Amino acid sequence: MRTAQLTIDPAFAIGPADRRLFGSFVEHLGRCVYGGVFEPGHPTADDHGFRADVLDMTRELGVSVVRYPGGNFVSGYRWEDGVGPVADRPRRLDLAWKTIETNAFGLHEFMTWAEQARVEPMMAVNLGTRGVQEACDLLEYANHPGGTALSDLRRKHGAERPYGVRLWCLGNELDGPWQVGHKTADEYGRLAAETARAMKLIDPSVSLVACGSSGRGMPTFASWEATVLEHTYEHVDYVSAHTYYDPSDGDRASMLASAVDMDHFINEVVATADHVAAKLRQRRKLKISFDEWNVWYQSRLQADLDQRGWVEAPALIEDTYTAVDAVVVGDLLLTLLRHADRVGVACQAQLANVIAPIRTRTGGPAWRQSIFHPFALTARYARGSVLRTEPVGPTYETKRHGEVPVLDSVAVHDEERGELTVFAVNRDSTDLELRLDLRGLPGLSAGSHLTLAAGDDPSATNTEAEPDRVTPRTITPPTVDGGRCTVRLPAISWNVLRFTTRP
Ligand code: AHR
Repeated sequence: MRTAQLTIDPAFAIGPADRRLFGSFVEHLGRCVYGGVFEPGHPTADDHGFRADVLDMTRELGVSVVRYPGGNFVSGYRWEDGVGPVADRPRRLDLAWKTIETNAFGLHEFMTWAEQARVEPMMAVNLGTRGVQEACDLLEYANHPGGTALSDLRRKHGAERPYGVRLWCLGNELDGPWQVGHKTADEYGRLAAETARAMKLIDPSVSLVACGSSGRGMPTFASWEATVLEHTYEHVDYVSAHTYYDPSDGDRASMLASAVDMDHFINEVVATADHVAAKLRQRRKLKISFDEWNVWYQSRLQADLDQRGWVEAPALIEDTYTAVDAVVVGDLLLTLLRHADRVGVACQAQLANVIAPIRTRTGGPAWRQSIFHPFALTARYARGSVLRTEPVGPTYETKRHGEVPVLDSVAVHDEERGELTVFAVNRDSTDLELRLDLRGLPGLSAGSHLTLAAGDDPSATNTEAEPDRVTPRTITPPTVDGGRCTVRLPAISWNVLRFTTRP
C-alpha cells in the first residue's frame, strides 16, 4: 500500500472557516424553484407552498447563504414581476432557459423561504437587460425602512420591516456570449461601477460582488477580471468566480483532480485582483465570491434545451451524481477551505433538482444525492481555524491537470472546543496509508473516521428507489500514540477524521 504523510500544526493558520463558504444557489431554472423548494399542493407543502421535505434537507445540509434569483435567468428578469398579488403577476418568456416564467414565486416568497431555511439571502440584480435605476429600485424596495414609494410598496405587499439584504451580485456572467445582455469587460466594468456607487448611496452596509469570468477556460479570463476591477475595485467587496467540472468524457483520473484546477483558478484570480490593487494603490484586499461551483454533466445541456418548446418548469439539468462525483465535490470544498483567507463566499450551484444535492419528484418524495453528504459533513465539522497542511506523498499523471498529488487534505482546528478535524481525499484507486503527525496539538485523542468511499462501486448513485446507496460510513477510528496516528484511506474516498482533547 502507498503511504502519505501529513504534519498538522496550529501555528499554520490560514484563517477562520467562514460560514459563508457553505452557500447554495436557487435559480429560476427548471425545477429548482417550481417543484423544488416551492410546490403548492405537495403533501408536505406549508401555507406558503414551500416543500417541508426540501426545507428540512436544506437545514440538514447546513447551507448558510443562498444566491437568488439567478444565474443566467437574472439577466432578463424584471424583479417587479415577482411582487404584489400573485394573481396579477405576469407570465413571461425566460430567454435564458427557454421557459415560461409564471412569477408565482418572487422576492417575498424567497425571503420568507430563506427565513424558514435559516439562510442568509444573496440577491443578484439584472445588469444584462437593465441597469443602475432598476438595481437601485430593487435595493430601495428591499432594504429601505419606509416613507418612499418603493419601500412603502414593499410594506403594502406585507413586509413591514426591510429585508436588510447584505450580499448583492452585480449581474451574472456578463462575459459569456450566451448571456442575455452580454458585454465587453469595459462596458460591464463601467456599468457595474456606476451601479455599485449608487447602491452604496442607498445602503452603505451592502457588500457587492463584481462579475469575474464565468470560467477559467474563457478566452477573456484574467483580462476580464483586470479590466472589470480597474473600473470597480474601490466600489466592490468581492469578485466572483464560477466553475463546473464535467465527468462526461469518462476520464476519471482527471475528474478526481478537479480541485487542482480550482486551486489554480483561485490563485490566478487573487493574483489578478492584487495586480489591480497595486496599480490603483489600493491597500484593501479583495475577496472572491465563488458563487457557482459544482460537478455538471454539461455536455447533456444542449439536448435538454433542444427537446422542447416554451413550457413551465421543465426538468432541466437534473444530473444524477455518482459516488465519484461526491468525492470530487468533497475535494472542491477542501480547496475552498484552504483559501479561507481570500474566498469569502461560496455557493454550490444549485440547491434542488438542477445540478443539486437535493432531488425531488413533483408530487413525490425528496432524496439526498451522493454529493449531499460531503457538503453536509464539511458544513457541520469545518468550524474554527483552517490550518495549512503540507502533504508528502505519491503523485499521478492526468490528461487535464498534469501530475497531481494522490492525497488532498485540509485541517480545521476548533481551539475552544478542543477539536481537530482533518478532511482528506484519496484520489487513487487503491487504498492509501496516511501517517499523521499531530505533535503540534498535544493531548489529542482518538476520534472518529467517516469515509465516503467510491472505490468499490464508483458509478453508484442515489435514486428515489434507492436513496441511501451512497452514504458515508464509519470505519475503525484512528488512535493517537505519542502524537502520531496512522489511518487507511479507502480507494477513491473522501474522509473526515475527528480528534478531540476532551475525555
Ligand atoms: O447554474 C447554472 C448556470 O450556470 C447559471 O445560470 C449560470 O450563471 C451558469 O452558466
